[in-house]
Amino acid sequence: MPSMDPVGSKGSNGGPKADFFARKQRIEQQRKSLPIASVEKRLMDEVRSHDILIIVGETGSGKTTQLPQYLFNAGFCRDGKIIGITQPRRVAAVTVAKRVAEECGVEMGQRVGYSIRFDDMTSSSTRIKYMTDGLLLREALLDKYLSKYSVIIVDEAHERTVDTDVLLGILKSVQKDRSRPINQLPNIDHTKVNNGVVIDKENDSQRASSLNQCRGLKLSPLKLIIMSASLDARGFSEYFGGARAVHVQGRQFPVDIFYTKAPETDYLDATLITIFQIHLEEGAGDVLVFLTGQEEIESVERLVLEKLQQLPEEKRKLKVLPIYSSLPSEKQMQVFMPAPTGFRKVDLSFMFEFFSVVYDLDAFGYVILATNIAETSVTIPGIKYVIDPGLVKARTYSARTGMESLVVVPTSKAQALQRSGRAGREGPGKCFRLYPEREFEKLSDSTVPEIKRCNLSKVVLQLKALGVDDIIGFDFMEKPLREAVIKSLELLALLGALTEESRLSKPVGHQMARLPLDPTHAKALILASQFNCLEEMLITVAMLSVESIFYAPREKLEEARTAAKCFSSLEGDHLTLINVFRASDELFEKSKIGNNREKAEKNMRKWCKENFINSRSVRQARDIHRQATSSFLSLKPKYDWQIRENVEQMGLHVASCGDDMLQFRRCLAAAFFLNAALKQPDGTYRVLSSGQSVQIHPSSVLFRTKPDCLIFDELVRTNHNYIRNVSRVDYLWLPELAPQYYTLKE
Ligand code: CDP
Ligand code: MG
Repeated sequence: MPSMDPVGSKGSNGGPKADFFARKQRIEQQRKSLPIASVEKRLMDEVRSHDILIIVGETGSGKTTQLPQYLFNAGFCRDGKIIGITQPRRVAAVTVAKRVAEECGVEMGQRVGYSIRFDDMTSSSTRIKYMTDGLLLREALLDKYLSKYSVIIVDEAHERTVDTDVLLGILKSVQKDRSRPINQLPNIDHTKVNNGVVIDKENDSQRASSLNQCRGLKLSPLKLIIMSASLDARGFSEYFGGARAVHVQGRQFPVDIFYTKAPETDYLDATLITIFQIHLEEGAGDVLVFLTGQEEIESVERLVLEKLQQLPEEKRKLKVLPIYSSLPSEKQMQVFMPAPTGFRKVDLSFMFEFFSVVYDLDAFGYVILATNIAETSVTIPGIKYVIDPGLVKARTYSARTGMESLVVVPTSKAQALQRSGRAGREGPGKCFRLYPEREFEKLSDSTVPEIKRCNLSKVVLQLKALGVDDIIGFDFMEKPLREAVIKSLELLALLGALTEESRLSKPVGHQMARLPLDPTHAKALILASQFNCLEEMLITVAMLSVESIFYAPREKLEEARTAAKCFSSLEGDHLTLINVFRASDELFEKSKIGNNREKAEKNMRKWCKENFINSRSVRQARDIHRQATSSFLSLKPKYDWQIRENVEQMGLHVASCGDDMLQFRRCLAAAFFLNAALKQPDGTYRVLSSGQSVQIHPSSVLFRTKPDCLIFDELVRTNHNYIRNVSRVDYLWLPELAPQYYTLKE
C-alpha cells in the first residue's frame, strides 16, 4: 500500500520532523498528480458561472478530496460561509475529512471537519464540512434555508440512496428560495436575516422589525454541485432543468476479467480459495474482496487467519483489513504516535483512524475485505486484484405487505464494472468474478434507486417535518411508488405521528421526527418513558442500531452457543441484548479504575472474544448509547441528534424498570405491534399485519423455545424469511396496547 508511510521507522534517520516534512511533500506531489488538478481553474470558472454543476469522474480522480479545497481557495468561504460535502456513508465522510485535514495541514475539527450521526467533529472555524446526506437533511430541520452554506456538494450521487434523493429535492427548493426576496419566503416570520444568515429571533417585535429591514434583500445564493462516478449524467442534468455537466478524465489501466466456469454453491468458500490462489500464485499487489456486510467480513477474516496458520511460516505474510460502513467513533489517533523501534507503523488513517495497527517490516500482502463502500466511496491505494462474488446486500420493500427486508442480491452491471475498475487504478490488474460470464449478461444495467425499494415512513416523517405536506406531489428525481407512500402514511398514522389531516401530530409526530431513528424505534423510546423503562429502551435501540452482537463461527458453534447462554433471557433477544450491554458496561467500569483506558479496552476485547461477542459492535453501541463525542478536542455537539440528550430535552422521563421486565416487554409490544407474529402448528410464524410466513432466525435465543406470540425487529430474507431480534409477548396485550390496530374478536 503506497500511501502507508513508515512513521518513526528504523530506516528514517532524520527523526520525526524530517518524516513530517517528507510526508507533507509527498502529499503535495500526490495532489498535483491527480487528474482533477489540471482542471482546477476551469472547474472554478464553471462553478462561478453555473449555480448547478454536475461533475462526473472516475473514482480516484480527486473529486471528493480536492474540489472542496479548490472552492475554499477560490473564496467560497468568505463571510464565514461553509462548503458542505455530503456522503452516503459515515465511514467515507470521516476518512475523507481526515485526509483533507491532513492535506491542508490543519487539525481535525478546525478548518476541516466532519459531522455524522452520533459524532460531530466541527467547530465554529470549520469551513469544509464533510457529512452524511442524512445529517444535512436533519440540519435542514433546524435551518430551513441551510443559510450557512455557500456551496453544497452532493457526492456519490450515483448511489441514489434514499437520503440522497430526498436531499436533491430539498436542495432544489432551498436554492430557489435563496434566490427570492426574503419577504416573499414562506415561514419567514420564524427567522431573522442577519448578514445573509438566517438566525432565530427571540420575539415577535424583533421579528417584525427585522422583516421590515430585509424587505427587498435576498439570502446569499447557494451553489449546488452534484458529483457522481457513473458516467451518465443525463438523469441529474434533466432533473435540474438541463444543468451543466462536466467530466473529469480519470486514469484507468486495463483489468483482465476472469469468470468461473459454473455458478458457485458456496461463494464464501470460493472467495477464500481465490484469496489464497492470489496470495500464493500471483505477483505482488493487494487484494480487494467485496462482501455483503460486517458479519460476513468478520467470518471471512477469521477463516483467512485460520488458514494462514496452516501455511508454512514464510507464506504467512498476508494481512487482513476489514472495512465497512458502520464505524465506532472511538478515536485514539494512535497513528500519530511514534511506533516502537523495529516496527513500522502503518498509517491506515485513510481507512479508519481507530484502526491503528502496528505491522512488522516485512509484511507485504494485504487483503482488504470490504462492503460495496469500496466501489466508489473510498479509494484504497495499492489494489491490483479484485475478487467480486457479485453480490450486495440491499433493501427491498413490499408495499403490499408493508415489510422491508434486507436481501443479498446480484449487483448491477454498473456495480460490477466499478468493482473491477478498482484493480486498475495504479497499473494493470485482475478481477475475479465468482460467477459465470453468462450470468453477467443477465445483470441489470444499473441499480434501482433505493427510494423505490424501501419503507418510506422515515422519509415521509422527515418531509412532513420539513413542511412538505404533499408527499406524492414532491419533486423527486424519481417518484417513489404511490402505494409505498400510502402505506407509510398509514404506518405513521398508526404510530400516532400524524393527525387526521395527515399533518405531524403534537407532540408525538414532532418528537419522532426529531429522533434520528427509524420511526418504530423512535416511538418505542417515547412509549418507554410512559412505561418507565426508557433506560432499558435506550440500550435496546443502541444495540439494535449496530450489526450483530454475537458471532458463531461454523466450527465453534457449540462453544459459541454455550457462551451466549449466560446472557440469554428466556424472554427474548431484546433482554439478552440488554444483558450483554450491562455486562460489558460493568466490566468496562471496573477495569477503568486507575484511569487506564487502554487496559480497559484490552480487557473488553478479551472478554468479547471469550464470549463470542463482536467487540466492534459492542463498542459502537456503547458509543451510541453514551453519545460519546470526540472529547479529546473538547468540541461540543451543536446539534440535537444525540438520542439520550434528545429524549431528555423533549421532557421524556428516563427511568429504569429495574427487575420488572414485564413492563419492558409490554412496551415492546406497544411499539412493535405491526411486527407481531403468531406461531403456526408447523412451528413457523405468521406476521399478523401482513399475513407473511416467517421463521425465527437461528441466532435468536428463542429459536428453539418458540413462544406462541412474539414481536420482531427486522425481517431478513436469505433462503427463508427470517425474523431477527424477537421477544416473547402475550397476544392479549396487542388489542390492549394497540387498540388502533387490533380488536379482540370472540
Ligand atoms: O472522489 P474521487 O474518487 O474522485 O477521488 P478522491 O476520493 O478525492 O481521492 C483522490 C486520491 O486521494 C486517491 O486516489 C487517493 O490516492 C488519495 N486519498 C487518500 O490517500 N486517502 C483518502 N482518505 C482519500 C484519498
Ligand atoms: Mg469520491
